[in-house]
Amino acid sequence: MQTTYVMIKPDGVQRGLIGEIIGRFERKGLQLVGMKSIIPSEEIAREHYAVHSERPFFPGLIKFVTSGPVVCMAWRGVEAIKVARNLIGSTNGREAAPGTIRGDFGMDMGFNMIHGSDAPETAEFELNLWFGDSLMEWNQDSINWVYEG
Ligand code: RTP
Ligand code: MG
Repeated sequence: MQTTYVMIKPDGVQRGLIGEIIGRFERKGLQLVGMKSIIPSEEIAREHYAVHSERPFFPGLIKFVTSGPVVCMAWRGVEAIKVARNLIGSTNGREAAPGTIRGDFGMDMGFNMIHGSDAPETAEFELNLWFGDSLMEWNQDSINWVYEG
């Protein structure tokens, strides 16, 4: 099992897409092990996107991500990182495949509504950054009908 960090960004919240987006992860069969809504501080936003700190779009990205509430989530499942990225779609909504979140609702590179960890190391870093040790350990009974073996 993997756990991945997923975050609805301020544009997704502003556009009233919280329920629509969460529903897709829930229906897929992933297990929710963490969720909260906050307005991110500049400090946490800079840490989260530190890998992009030298890029020209970095200041705008930080301003955007700290502009209002985000919904922070931790989703668990077999290959959850890849599964979540597939649900999310490619970065630019105009090019993202229909059926993905960005493909269905996005028209822009910056306003792409949602973040998902891209590798096991980044998932661990991001989960620790946003949730610390406060993830929930619980048995999801329906899991026996999600995975055959
Ligand atoms: P994310 O990290 O938010 O899940 O998105 P991603 O992996 O698909 O894309 P990434 O390359 O990590 O970029 C992080 C976010 O920065 C903004 N961005 N703007 N103007 C640009 O060229 C540009 N490139 C990236 C996007 O909001 C992207 O989600
Ligand atoms: Mg990324």
